[in-house]
Amino acid sequence: MQTHEATHTVITPSVLYFGTPVGLISTLNRDGTTNLSPVSSLFALGQRYAVGLGAGGQAAANLIDCPELVVNLPDAELAGAIEEIAPTTGVDPVPQHKAARYRFEPDKWTLGGLTPLSSELVRPDRVMECPIQLGRVP
Ligand SMILES: Cc1cc2nc3c(=O)[nH]c(=O)nc-3n(C[C@H](O)[C@H](O)[C@H](O)COP(=O)(O)O)c2cc1C
Repeated sequence: MQTHEATHTVITPSVLYFGTPVGLISTLNRDGTTNLSPVSSLFALGQRYAVGLGAGGQAAANLIDCPELVVNLPDAELAGAIEEIAPTTGVDPVPQHKAARYRFEPDKWTLGGLTPLSSELVRPDRVMECPIQLGRVP
């Protein structure tokens, strides 16, 4: 039997995280504004989405109140906008377990230089700059 010991090493990474490219999830805040959450644990199968969402995030809280969302798929030019939004949450105060790396941001749109557009199928706004915007109701 051949082995690959010369070229392969067994590792135990602290985070094992691969999958789909990032999407920006639009969800409806209680005040009627739309929150944006970068999410990559996401896939679509037919008319259903499977989204791996942290339970302590604003997106999860919003989806309990209003189970409608938009999956906005950015192109490469929006990488900078995602990076701006990445260290923020719509949860105020920031949960203890996120406090070291995240800050509260009520307006991620302005922070990322993104433009809200009314959606045709759902209540949360969609991101004008994203070339693909997938609205979904349950
Ligand atoms: C590239 C990228 C991918 C991410 N993927 C996920 C994900 O799949 N699920 C998740 O819950 N959070 C993910 N996050 C972290 C959330 O964006 C982060 O928890 C954020 O604070 C959520 O915002 P919210 O609390 O306003 O919903 C990702 C962040 C980045 C930058």
